Parts: sequence; C-alpha cells; structure tokens
Amino acid sequence: MIDTLDIEITKTSESKLSQVDFDNLPFGKVFADHMLIAKYENGAWSRACIEPYGNISLSPASSMIHYGQSIFEGLKAFKSENNEVLIFRPEENWKRMNASAVRMCMPEVPKDIFLGGMRQLIDLDRNWVPNNSESALYIRPFLFATDALLGVKPSESYMFMIITAPVGPYYVKPLHLKIETEFTRAAIGGVGAAKAAGNYGAAMYPAMLAQKEGIDQLIWTDAKEHKYLEEAGTMNMMVVIDDKLITPPLKSTILPGITRKSFLELTKEAGYEVEERSISVSEVIEAIKSGDLKELFGVGTAATTAQVEKLTFEGNTYDLPSKESRVISNSIGQKLLRIKKGIDPDTHGWNISV
Ligand code: COI
Repeated sequence: MIDTLDIEITKTSESKLSQVDFDNLPFGKVFADHMLIAKYENGAWSRACIEPYGNISLSPASSMIHYGQSIFEGLKAFKSENNEVLIFRPEENWKRMNASAVRMCMPEVPKDIFLGGMRQLIDLDRNWVPNNSESALYIRPFLFATDALLGVKPSESYMFMIITAPVGPYYVKPLHLKIETEFTRAAIGGVGAAKAAGNYGAAMYPAMLAQKEGIDQLIWTDAKEHKYLEEAGTMNMMVVIDDKLITPPLKSTILPGITRKSFLELTKEAGYEVEERSISVSEVIEAIKSGDLKELFGVGTAATTAQVEKLTFEGNTYDLPSKESRVISNSIGQKLLRIKKGIDPDTHGWNISV
C-alpha cells in the first residue's frame, strides 16, 4: 500500500498560506509550506522525510552542477467541487521519471517514495490546492546527483525531492510561435525523450533570440533536415487539418507527454480521427494557405491547452484561425479539465484522490 509509507514529518511553525493571492498566481514563484526529500546512498534509498520548504545545502563539487545528472517531472493536483484533492495520473509521471533516470544513468525512484511520498505531501499542504477555474497545485518531483567529485562518471549518491507551487495557466494568452530551422533541441539517439534539466537549459538561447522578435516560443524541427515538426519547449504540438487531429509520433527526440497521451485518448473517444505521424513544415504552411488548417495548439501539464494564433516561418508570419472557431482543442481541452477537476466522471481511473 503506497499510502502507508513511513515518513518522518516536520511541520512548518509558520505557514505562508495567508500571504498568497490565489487570484493572481504567477507560474512557479510561490511555493507551498513543505517539501519531500529522500536520499540515495550506498546503493539504497533512505527513509523519506517531509520538511518545511527551504534552502538545501550541497557540496560545490556536486556532480549535478558540473555534469548535469538532473531530471524532473511536472504534474498537477486539482480541487474538486466537493473539496476533494485529485492528482492527475501520477503513476505515469513515476514511470516517465524512471525512464529518464535510466537514460541519465541514475537510480530509479521506488514507487512508494514517489507516489506514497507525494500523497502525504499533498495531503499535508491540501489547503494550498487552489479551487478557482484553471488553477492547480503544480507538483515538481526531481532527482539530481550529489557526489562531490569532479571525475566524469555517474554519481553514486542522489537526492530525490518534491516541491509544489499553486499556479495559474503557464500561458495566459494565445501564442505566437516560430518554426525553428537553425538550432536543434534533440537528435535521434540523444536525450530528447528524457525530462533532463539540460534539455531546457539548451533551448533557452534560441528561444531568447526569438523572444527578441516578439515571438513567445519555438516549435523545434528534426535535427537532420529541419523539415518535420517535433515539439515546442514546454509542450507537445498538435494540428487539425481537414478535421483530423495530427501529432508527431513519439521517438527519441520527443518527450512522451502525459497530457498528449490523455488528449489523444479523449479525442479518439469523441469520434475524431487521430493520426500520429510525421508532419512536414511544408504540409503545415500549405494547409494554412489553403485554409485547410483549422487548429494549431500545444498540450502540456503546465501549458494545458495552449492555442497558437500566429506562426512565423522563414520570416513570414501567418495568422491562424480564431481561437473561438477551434472545435477539437476547445472541446477536448475543456473535457480534460473537467475530468481533472472531478466535474465529469473519471471513467479512465486517471485521478488519485488524496
Ligand atoms: C510541465 O508541463 O510540467 C513542464 O515540465 C513544462 C515546464 C518546463 C514548465
């Protein structure tokens, strides 16, 4: 039973809850009162503990700082109308974290620490779960190397932590994206499918160049030819052409999004045609010009369903169909949110109640 995990809990003496403006939540700047810590040393995991949220102490030689053995996850807890706290598909995040751990030569996190620890942490900070519209408690589990050693080799010690933050949607308005054809996020055989911290750091410079031109984010293309869509920095990409939902297939360059997976399932159940296949940039541009492209949007835990209203490619900027006209993304995005908030029945068993 995951919820009987024996955890040492030290509660905060001074909650910060009353200082939070739940109607104006910036993404990832405000943190709940507690955090979970478990250490991996000498080939074994320590007992997990929950402590007041605060700074941690590390050796300046920690190999995570120098060589980047650092991975993370992102998921959300919602408050239902009858005040239940629901965590969306946490087991999927546990599996993906361990797939990232294998790729990065790190130890897998036991299920009872990841899921049982998370449950107890969220239960303790349940008053931090917002209950207004699209707000949620964002849950950030992460694992990093702690050996104090400058030799380039896998660390033998690690720290697993979970921190949480009440958040609104990551993007507050429809986006202007650019199809990137110079820089590359991930190449076949690399770490693109892992949620490795370095993937995000490496994407910042090209994104910053685009932001200087007023663009919000990039859509990455394949490293070999820059001809096929991959993903955007914080979400998987989807297009609707001729009433068909199309999304790039999973491979070693694309993060296997849990929102992506859930969205595809609900779209199929709603009777729409879904294709997981390569989408060329030229197909997208032609479909925009012919009027066959009905929707372009991203999906992700933080991003939720993020509409793209402008698309730049090779210096040309295209206006896309209005947000209001988008049948699939609006209806499935709303359906997904209603399931997460316990408004619609959770027929898939996706929610874990705390
Ligand atoms: C998430 O959606 O949870 C992510 O990890 C994206 C993040 C980098 C904001």
